[in-house]
Amino acid sequence: MKKIFITGGGGMLASEIERFYAGKGDQVQAPRHKELDVMDHAAMESALTGARPDYVFHTAALHVNACEDDPQLAHKLNTEASQKLGQICQSIGAALIYISSCGFFGDEKKFYSEADPVVLKTVYARSKYEGEVQARQACRKTYAIRPGWLFGGSIKHQKNFVYQRYLEAKAKPVIQSAGDKFGSPTYTQDLIVKIDEILTAGRPDLYHVTNTGGCSRAEYVQKIVASCRLKNKVEPVDSSHFPRKANVPDCEMLNNANLAALGLTPMPAWEVAIERYSRIMLKEIESSS
Ligand SMILES: NC(=O)c1ccc[n+]([C@@H]2O[C@H](COP(=O)([O-])OP(=O)(O)OC[C@H]3O[C@@H](n4cnc5c(N)ncnc54)[C@H](OP(=O)(O)O)[C@@H]3O)[C@@H](O)[C@H]2O)c1
Repeated sequence: MKKIFITGGGGMLASEIERFYAGKGDQVQAPRHKELDVMDHAAMESALTGARPDYVFHTAALHVNACEDDPQLAHKLNTEASQKLGQICQSIGAALIYISSCGFFGDEKKFYSEADPVVLKTVYARSKYEGEVQARQACRKTYAIRPGWLFGGSIKHQKNFVYQRYLEAKAKPVIQSAGDKFGSPTYTQDLIVKIDEILTAGRPDLYHVTNTGGCSRAEYVQKIVASCRLKNKVEPVDSSHFPRKANVPDCEMLNNANLAALGLTPMPAWEVAIERYSRIMLKEIESSS
């Protein structure tokens, strides 16, 4: 039986990690934000020294728009707390799984591998990338995981992109979506299965971990609509239709090169993953109505 500790408990990805390991009979602690703030270094040290976990999954983070609004908080939460967590993990001998980001590259349309140089365009990207670097420096057993555009969890999760698009499709016949932003949609359920395989392989390193393939935001939305058996038209538009404070890169598609080098099989295609998740989500909607 493994001992698992998850920061940011109750979040979209954290819930999936908790479900996965609890389902295997492992011992899981996943304190919520209000129970344990990762920026409270003394509380973190006391919780982890008491729990003595084998694996610490660090999912707590400040999101893209909030980082632009408060760069100081972004640094404190995404960078400093990750560094401190790395130091604690190193001192108690735990492996740290740092959940990083896919938004570290530029605008060229290509699949980026772990060897590609970073281009940090947003406060979020700078703070998450620095967090990744600091965590890896502080803890030798750090697995830095860069997922793609995450989906999954429950309809209660605020960041449930699939459910948000479902609601939008129910409200209007035509959905506009960016045709010029590209990424690799990544199902939280597939992600944790693959992370666990990486941990079993036992090689701490930097890993891009996404469902296979990539698409524009509009193609992603089109697939969601079709998987939910809806008939809405999805109109690809220029991303300037959705002004954002954060100047997010045009392309966040990832090539999972280090995963392949480890000899692990690629994750399922993103389209298949969305079909699987949509079925689960539609059942949740049905049972909650
Ligand atoms: N969503 C994506 O598309 C995506 C893509 C790539 C990488 N990621 C990364 O994946 C990770 C998980 O994201 P997610 O989509 O699962 O987000 P999420 O659902 O918002 O989960 C994040 C959790 O962290 C908690 N949290 C925030 N500040 C905290 C603090 N100071 N101390 C303790 N907990 C805190 C949040 O609680 P409250 O809500 O109560 O504050 C929330 O429960 C993040 O590190 C994110 O950067 C996400």
